[in-house]
Amino acid sequence: MNKLFISVVIVALGMNANVSAADMRHIVVPTKHNKHLTLGTLAEIAPGLGTVMLEYSHRFYVAYYAAKAGNWDLAKYELHEMEEIQEVGEATRPKYAAALKAFEKKYLDKISDAAKAGKWEAFDKSYKQAVIGCNACHTATGHSFIRYRLPSTPPKLLDLSAN
Ligand code: HEC
Repeated sequence: MNKLFISVVIVALGMNANVSAADMRHIVVPTKHNKHLTLGTLAEIAPGLGTVMLEYSHRFYVAYYAAKAGNWDLAKYELHEMEEIQEVGEATRPKYAAALKAFEKKYLDKISDAAKAGKWEAFDKSYKQAVIGCNACHTATGHSFIRYRLPSTPPKLLDLSAN
């Protein structure tokens, strides 16, 4: 199902004051595999923060070793993709949106600036500060048992060397 089509349906229905949020959840958006899929189900299965964090942390890990290997394009790409998946988390779990945005501004932007400038020392320093920021947010949100640590070996699934 085309995203634009769904947006148009939502906007069109939203303009009709008689359609409640509960009604909107029951709107059927048939797909190839499920003829009865509703907007409500689509919303429920949108990735929550735990799923987002799996991708977020993986890209964060790859970015480090890409930068270390001098593959700045890959490092910048991973950092950019982190911002993209972060937006998914902000949309599906709005209660964390402000903290995620603050983290991005305080830590991720500095890492990205270092990657854009191709400065390894600045990258390394701001990365290690960001790790503290990641875990500070875990503690602040009641997840002090979740402590990210940078794996001591580079990821194997990508060729990290600069081209
Ligand atoms: C908004 C504050 C916040 C920030 C900033 C944040 N996290 Fe998280 N993170 C969470 C929350 C909340 C969870 C638990 C999600 C859930 O399941 O509800 C989590 C879960 C995780 C998980 C566990 C995923 C799993 O299910 O195994 C990892 C790994 C993780 N974060 C890594 C990171 C890394 C790396 C960073 C920094 C680059 C980061 N987080 C920044 C809030 C944050």
